[in-house]
Amino acid sequence: MTTTPQPGILLPVPKQARYLSFSIANAARIADSLRELGKLTDGEQTVVGIGQSLTAALNVDIPGLKPFPPITAPGLTIDNAPDAVWIWLRGDDRGDILHRSRRITRALAPAFALDDCRDAFKHREGRDLSGFEDGTENPVGEEALSAAIVGTDRPGIAGSSFVAIQRWRHNFEHFEALSERAQDHAIGRRQSDNVELEEAPESAHVKRTAQESFDPEAFVLRRSMPWSECNDGGLMFVAFGKSFDAFEAQLKRMTGGEDGVVDALFGFTQPVSGAYFWCPAMKNGKLDLSPLGL
Ligand code: HEM
Repeated sequence: MTTTPQPGILLPVPKQARYLSFSIANAARIADSLRELGKLTDGEQTVVGIGQSLTAALNVDIPGLKPFPPITAPGLTIDNAPDAVWIWLRGDDRGDILHRSRRITRALAPAFALDDCRDAFKHREGRDLSGFEDGTENPVGEEALSAAIVGTDRPGIAGSSFVAIQRWRHNFEHFEALSERAQDHAIGRRQSDNVELEEAPESAHVKRTAQESFDPEAFVLRRSMPWSECNDGGLMFVAFGKSFDAFEAQLKRMTGGEDGVVDALFGFTQPVSGAYFWCPAMKNGKLDLSPLGL
């Protein structure tokens, strides 16, 4: 039986979600805890990612998996979270998600400590909290597969995916003080009808990240969702790729690493943390942990 991707990666973002990040608490219990996690994972409602600190503890190598790179740009450092396990709980009922979250945390408890727990949601028809539609230029169908999923040319991990996560915190007061034109020019699209603005400056977010403008082209499958906590909020940026190359090329240009022009996004929002994970494939309906030696 061939391996398939965790289906939640390819599906549209759900109405409700929760992100859990775990660090290693007791290395001797890792294998047991991961087997228990495997039993609770369908890949659709529960998507699982494995961090490099975990593969290092197991003494296995997933080629391409690495720690989140330290990124600095003028006035900016992005912290990395050296998490071992990342879980994206997807659904449409917060109560169900809470109970799934409790079961998973309990199953992982012998080996892993819960470090971060963040609820997220779909805003209107899929907008960022700035009001802009998010995900328009995502690849679909075969193109989504080829951007986000490791191909059969890498048989050991075919069907798996690499995911880059960044939690961004918006400065709503700052954003709301900008004129409508300045807001539209920061993104490079018109918020009112999502039309791309040719005349937007080079710092416009979609000019920085235009996927086909890179060499090689830098396509990723974005599945970001807004998060909020009381009056605080922002975007949980989530990008799946067959490697981290496309994400890194985009982030380099966003932070001015290519031509000195910094993405206008940074004017009203800042990344708080970042992390990289590898999302195993599914085999016979189960999470395939064999590349980890389990
Ligand atoms: C708070 C953070 C961010 C916000 C609010 C945001 C918002 C947006 C919006 C509104 C669009 C236009 C619609 C669309 O095609 O989805 C867009 C496009 C895009 N963004 Fe972001 N984004 C954020 C961070 C990032 C980061 C960190 C990356 C990658 C490193 C990224 C990569 C992209 C890409 C690849 C596109 C499509 C560009 C194209 O091919 O036209 N974004 N983003």
